[in-house]
Amino acid sequence: MENKKIIYSGIQPTGVLTIGNYIGAMANWKAMQDEYNCIYGIADLHALTVRQNPAEYRQRAMSFFAQYLACGLSPEKCVLYFQSHVRQHAELQWILNCYTYVGEMQRMAQFKDKSQKHEDNINMGLLNYPVLQASDILLYQASLVPVGADQKQHIEITRDIAIRFNNLYGETFTVPDIYLSKHGAKINSLQDPYAKMSKSDTNENATVSVIEDADSIMRKFKRAVTDSEAFVEYREDKAGISNLLTIFSVMSGESIESLVERYRTLGYGKFKNDAGEAVVEKLKPIRAEYDRLMKNKDYLKETAKSGADKASFLAEKTLRKVKKRVGLVEN
Ligand code: TRP
Repeated sequence: MENKKIIYSGIQPTGVLTIGNYIGAMANWKAMQDEYNCIYGIADLHALTVRQNPAEYRQRAMSFFAQYLACGLSPEKCVLYFQSHVRQHAELQWILNCYTYVGEMQRMAQFKDKSQKHEDNINMGLLNYPVLQASDILLYQASLVPVGADQKQHIEITRDIAIRFNNLYGETFTVPDIYLSKHGAKINSLQDPYAKMSKSDTNENATVSVIEDADSIMRKFKRAVTDSEAFVEYREDKAGISNLLTIFSVMSGESIESLVERYRTLGYGKFKNDAGEAVVEKLKPIRAEYDRLMKNKDYLKETAKSGADKASFLAEKTLRKVKKRVGLVEN
């Protein structure tokens, strides 16, 4: 690999990839492919921390992979792979477990939150989830991790683990920084515009998937929650309209100011309709490419395999070093 900074990010293959993921993550991941060495993992081991239906899960993970490719991640420019295909993740996690304290894990906000939501299944994986995430990042010596603000704590603990290990054994890991998107476009739910659009929202009307069909997109935009004023304006207390403006602007490339000027007094019906159409237009080629890819399972499998081979080659370098540092007998 050329001497560019290494970026690592991951996503769990659960729920549906939404336009929120597209705008907040995928579009940025795509933009970074040229500037950095990018490694993106489908975090399929992480998502086992909550129960999955095996047949559905396998299908969904492959669908995520195809959606990433369809959104413009190029297997020539970045490394895209399934975490479970690269055994070094689980191996490094074991070692790093021995350098992470139970108390640190119990304090994690996501652990507390998920323990509450899945009271009947507070498993070990849920507790040491962040150690696997740290392993993902540290294996590749990544210096930047583009994630949403909700992952900040996990990146901080990754740094703590890396620094702790480096202090004990000498420089081994690059200490990564969080990379919060500069564009800052945060997309909220269409039904509860004060809450983030979540890919696992159970209310279907709250989200739009990147591979959704046109009719369904239009219907959801018509139903989007707004307010009882009649003016299209971008204001904090008009979360619904402001959210639609953000989506409309990103999808059409027209600035929010210009949209406001054009739609201010045209009524919400027209505004929602045109916003929906902008989304349909932008997603159309993605959907077409996705359909094409999903018909070509051999290509998907080959691409996943070559991604995993590249990832594994890089990961092995770090893992060897780590094993040596902690005193395991070399093989
Ligand atoms: N925990 C992340 C999330 O839920 C997903 C993830 C797994 C990740 N491994 C990662 C993100 C490594 C960044 C780096 O969003």
